[in-house]
Amino acid sequence: MKVEPIRSVKGTRDLLPPDTILWQRVEAEARSVFAAYHYGEIRTPVLEQTGLFARSVGADTDIVMKEMYTFQDRDEESLTLRPEATASVVRAYIEHSLYNQGGAHKLYYLGPMFRRERPQKGRYRQFYQIGAEVLGSESPLVDAEVLEMLLLFLERVGIREYQLLLNSVGCAACRATYLSVLREALAGVKSSMCADCQRRADTNPLRVLDCKVEADQPIIEKLPKIIEHLDPACRAHFERVTSELRARRISYQVTPRLVRGLDYYTRTTFEITSGALGAQNAVLGGGRYDGLSEMLGGPPTPGIGFSIGQDRLILAVQAAAVLKPEVPLAAYIVWMGEPALSAAAGLARELRAHGLSVGIDYDPMKIKKAMGLASKLGARFAIIIGEGELAKERYQLKDMGSGQQEEVEPGNIASYLEARL
Ligand code: HAM
Repeated sequence: MKVEPIRSVKGTRDLLPPDTILWQRVEAEARSVFAAYHYGEIRTPVLEQTGLFARSVGADTDIVMKEMYTFQDRDEESLTLRPEATASVVRAYIEHSLYNQGGAHKLYYLGPMFRRERPQKGRYRQFYQIGAEVLGSESPLVDAEVLEMLLLFLERVGIREYQLLLNSVGCAACRATYLSVLREALAGVKSSMCADCQRRADTNPLRVLDCKVEADQPIIEKLPKIIEHLDPACRAHFERVTSELRARRISYQVTPRLVRGLDYYTRTTFEITSGALGAQNAVLGGGRYDGLSEMLGGPPTPGIGFSIGQDRLILAVQAAAVLKPEVPLAAYIVWMGEPALSAAAGLARELRAHGLSVGIDYDPMKIKKAMGLASKLGARFAIIIGEGELAKERYQLKDMGSGQQEEVEPGNIASYLEARL
């Protein structure tokens, strides 16, 4: 009886070489840029108490209402696979009293997030984010610096075509004024909107602005804009952010509808979109969340950060084709006959100890097949060891690019390769 193979869960996927080389390159660039701005890495658990996200992301958001992987643990506690990491970072900041250290705290993270969305290109149920958060500063210069750092990172990974969308959603005080204006405007039009918008017009009117239903768009376009209802302090903050961006020659597009899909935002919000991505075009999103620490039971602590969708970033990196997924195999060892096998294994060990990447298979193979494999694996050199080579104590080294072949003494192979790679 044939056994049915088990497949990966819908919306999840395996990342395979050589693609994973690109993932590693992107992660290495992120770590290098973050280190230059003096961010430290934080690793928080993938599992959190469900209440963390209900309180921070917001009970009436799509994420919390429809998309979380939530389950009862054996002791009845409600747990959730994190749909995002900002809430976890702030939870950890409070839990470990990081605020006692003084100054702004800068943290970054990489890892998987989980949202039960409808899968499509660039949208997965397990996806990966690279994110950074700054806690403890209200300065608009931090907003500008965070964006400056992001753009440096995008440049490093070869992404040049993108748009920075910018908005301010104000603070709790100006939000209250705006919400009453918005509610009033919605009262006249909500009956012709989708069911979600009709409900949200009463429960959480700001969420109406990020409705994706096509028919609602012309109505949403005409609604009052939050950026026109900022109080003087929030307006001044936004103006300083934009003047700092201009001073850094960073172009941006003020986008009044950009309220983002999570409830914790205050003041600056932003997204970066890329034309290379199709429908799911937001490569990253972020903003300020000056009230989040208090919402989670911590001291008043302003914060700002962003999360890059790594899956989408990789698609954009592939489209830009600047970073190449290089296969760094220095040599593949081709051996013939049992006596050559131990010599081959010994040579592999010696070259690897030199830090060279070396491939070898221990099952006998015809020379033609082994040479074919060396080329398929992308080896720069094939090292051929047969009876003749063993007797002469000189192995054949074939440059797989040029096809040139040379005989080299085993003891000199490491330096021969090092000189040519
Ligand atoms: P977000 O906008 O929900 O923000 O997600 C950030 C990015 O994650 C998106 O722009 C997108 O690239 C990627 N993303 C989201 N959902 C999916 C999915 N299902 N499949 C693939 N990629 C996805 C946040 O998560 C906030 N924590 C950002 C932040 C950090 N704000 C302040 N600090």
